[in-house]
Amino acid sequence: AAEMSKDELILPKDFPTLQNDTFLRAARGEETEHVPVWCMRQAGRYLPEFRESRAGKDFFDTCRSPESCCELTLQPLRRFPFDAAIIFSDILVVPQAMGMDVLMVAGKGPTFPDPLKEPEDLQRLRTAVDVEKELGYVFKAITLTRHKIEGKVPLIGFTGAPWTLMAYMIEGGGSNTYSKAKRWLYRHPEASHMLLRMLTDVIVEYLLGQVAAGAQALQVFDSHAGILGPVQFKDFSLPYLRDIARRVKDKLKETGQDVPMIVFAKDAHYALEDLSQSHYEVVGLDWTIDPRSARERTGGKVSLQGNMDPCALYSPKDRISEIVQKMVEGFGTRGYIANLGHGLYPDMDPENVGAFVEAVHQHSKLMIKQI
Ligand code: CP3
Repeated sequence: AAEMSKDELILPKDFPTLQNDTFLRAARGEETEHVPVWCMRQAGRYLPEFRESRAGKDFFDTCRSPESCCELTLQPLRRFPFDAAIIFSDILVVPQAMGMDVLMVAGKGPTFPDPLKEPEDLQRLRTAVDVEKELGYVFKAITLTRHKIEGKVPLIGFTGAPWTLMAYMIEGGGSNTYSKAKRWLYRHPEASHMLLRMLTDVIVEYLLGQVAAGAQALQVFDSHAGILGPVQFKDFSLPYLRDIARRVKDKLKETGQDVPMIVFAKDAHYALEDLSQSHYEVVGLDWTIDPRSARERTGGKVSLQGNMDPCALYSPKDRISEIVQKMVEGFGTRGYIANLGHGLYPDMDPENVGAFVEAVHQHSKLMIKQI
């Protein structure tokens, strides 16, 4: 109870002044002194201090503790000069907020004991979700972290995309084929659109709540976009991704706010042109896309983020530096945020993550000086 009353007093105002806005400027395509860099899953099991903090604790209990989320978010910043932090949480807190149970099973990953099987199951979901009530713990984590980060770097909020969340809610967990979820798209297209609309409505409120709590940028993870082909992506994912950006931006504009938004549709290389015209400032790329061709296909309309193969971090450090140099040359230094093409894996060496960050800063500083 003492803890609770303490964090009730932490309010989303009077945040420390931002000292490094490189990431935000790159997101808007403005000039920078170096290319900013952060990593998906930078708060993760590759860090011994992360494993220690998480030891013996339930994953979603950790997500519901603002103090734990804050500590885990800050850990990677103590080691590496990342240019942004991403709040520790999970995309599956949204299905939980809609009334579904989700457990994190060791060695198996996220598991829904009672997934959606048939369209009738949609009746089990909460329709009017009070995000303040159901997800207020994430907002508190963001506000606390914005204070504790002391203005070092911007704090990114995030959500899963409607299709990716739908896929988990039907599959009940990870899958190779996602055939149960795709079966819905072919067999129950109307119920699928209904579910995607329900998710979109919650996600819009959730992202607005994150900005009100202090998030300075937002990333939408469509991690399972690649399982869809171009036709299904256009029908079942893209319209909702666009709707999310449009509605969040329109609402923020009413109060004179504007935060950059990033869309990361993993393995959706076929949709790159469409994604670059979907109201997001930044398009995140996985490692299967060549940097130069990504630039050509997006026609300078958006900033790009990515996309080194995470497995390149298994290389020796001098090799990492060479790979980074080629990547930065390929993207160019303007309107570019360096990242991996997906998250860090638990067996990666923190030292090599450090080498990646340093290589981005070092190579890009030299290139920018030569322009
Ligand atoms: O550092 C960060 O990137 C911020 C935190 C973050 C987590 N999950 C923490 C986490 C973010 C952005 C996510 C998003 C997320 N969660 C996605 C989208 C990004 C992606 O990877 O494509 C997805 C698909 C999930 C669902 C999920 N949560 C999976 C598949 C797993 C892995 C399960 C396993 O055992 O490997 C999780 C668990 C999870 N979320 C971990 C972390 C650090 C590891 C588990 C732990 O800490 O015990």
